Amino acid sequence: MENLVNFNALFEGVYKGKKVLLTGHTGFKGSWLALWLTKLGAEVYGYSLKNTEVHHLQYLDLNIQETLNDIRDFKTLKEYIQKVQPDIVFHLAAQALVRPSYENPIETFSSNVMGTLHVYEACKNIPSIKAIVNVTSDKCYENKEWIWGYRENEAMGGYDPYSASKGCAELLTASYRNSFFNVSDYNKKHQVLLASGRAGNVIGGGDWAKDRLIPDIVKATAQKQAVLIRNPLATRPWQHVLEPLSGYLTLGWKMLQQDVSVADGWNFGPNVDSNLQVGDVVKLAKNNWNDVQITIGKNTEEHHEANLLMLDCSKANKLLKWTPVWGIETTLQKTIGWYKEFYLNNNIMSINDLESYVSDAKKANCVWTK
Ligand SMILES: NC(=O)c1ccc[n+]([C@@H]2O[C@H](COP(=O)([O-])OP(=O)(O)OC[C@H]3O[C@@H](n4cnc5c(N)ncnc54)[C@H](O)[C@@H]3O)[C@@H](O)[C@H]2O)c1
Repeated sequence: MENLVNFNALFEGVYKGKKVLLTGHTGFKGSWLALWLTKLGAEVYGYSLKNTEVHHLQYLDLNIQETLNDIRDFKTLKEYIQKVQPDIVFHLAAQALVRPSYENPIETFSSNVMGTLHVYEACKNIPSIKAIVNVTSDKCYENKEWIWGYRENEAMGGYDPYSASKGCAELLTASYRNSFFNVSDYNKKHQVLLASGRAGNVIGGGDWAKDRLIPDIVKATAQKQAVLIRNPLATRPWQHVLEPLSGYLTLGWKMLQQDVSVADGWNFGPNVDSNLQVGDVVKLAKNNWNDVQITIGKNTEEHHEANLLMLDCSKANKLLKWTPVWGIETTLQKTIGWYKEFYLNNNIMSINDLESYVSDAKKANCVWTK
């Protein structure tokens, strides 16, 4: 299948030969983005904390330059960026989980807010840098627990420390876009376009984070145990990890082509029929791996957790012509399939999944495949 997918033509070939700094490359999303960028012919520089747990990147054998360091250490980060002189920065490094954010709010705010500030500050006055894509979350919005999707112009907020840190990161992004990377000064006082991507829960192979539904299910299933489901009625938007990544890459592509209208915040969520309750996702997981067993437990969670959170993606659909590629059934099939191959046959399916995603995107005439 590999030969059928011409990666060079994607995103109009803009990433070929580009130096791309990717923070958070050892994480779930970052590892998939590193894989995709290398297939696009980019020179990838990863900057993250060392991942001591089992993680996706270790199975990919990618040709990237990696530095294991902390974005809270401003001096080291700044020197590194000065040395690398990247063309574009994808900033994904963050403390990315809600529950640990209650246990360690200082780490969460310092990495997600001060860390983001450090990245922006270190990118100022670096002549090579043309674009920055910051990754936040659907949780950046003030959650009103209503049935409508949030639009990009709605209020930032966040009940728990993680969500609030992502709301803060968005405010910080808007401030830097106004104060230092203002589009009206573009190519006069500076040459950087700054955009942010807000996506919801993503799933896909290679995620083993704690307290995420799919990793919990597959880890338990691999050990022939039942997984405890505490919040079966919670509704979330579910999407494959490659979907928001196609959105982030679209932002980078347009900004590298000097499209100033893209320097803004963007929602990248699934179609409405992929907004499913946890219980329904579990059923779909079981359809793909019959060994999945569940126990429904009482929700003894002492911390507040959002129940209803959806994104309105009209802006990305209309202005970027970005659309999701896989429906919920394919998303679950690819995701559970990845772990089944991993646990039962020792196979890593990431490149197959990426190729199948790109070839389905071509069939769907996605704008970034033309
Ligand atoms: N996974 C999801 O469902 C999801 C949903 C919405 C938004 N996001 C956002 O996407 C981004 C990536 O998430 P993920 O799921 O890949 O998370 P992850 O936990 O798998 O990876 C986080 C990455 O950030 C790095 N990191 C954390 N703190 C750091 C620090 N202080 N200095 C340097 N590196 C640091 C880690 O080393 C790792 O590489 C995050 O910004 C997250 O908030 C994720």
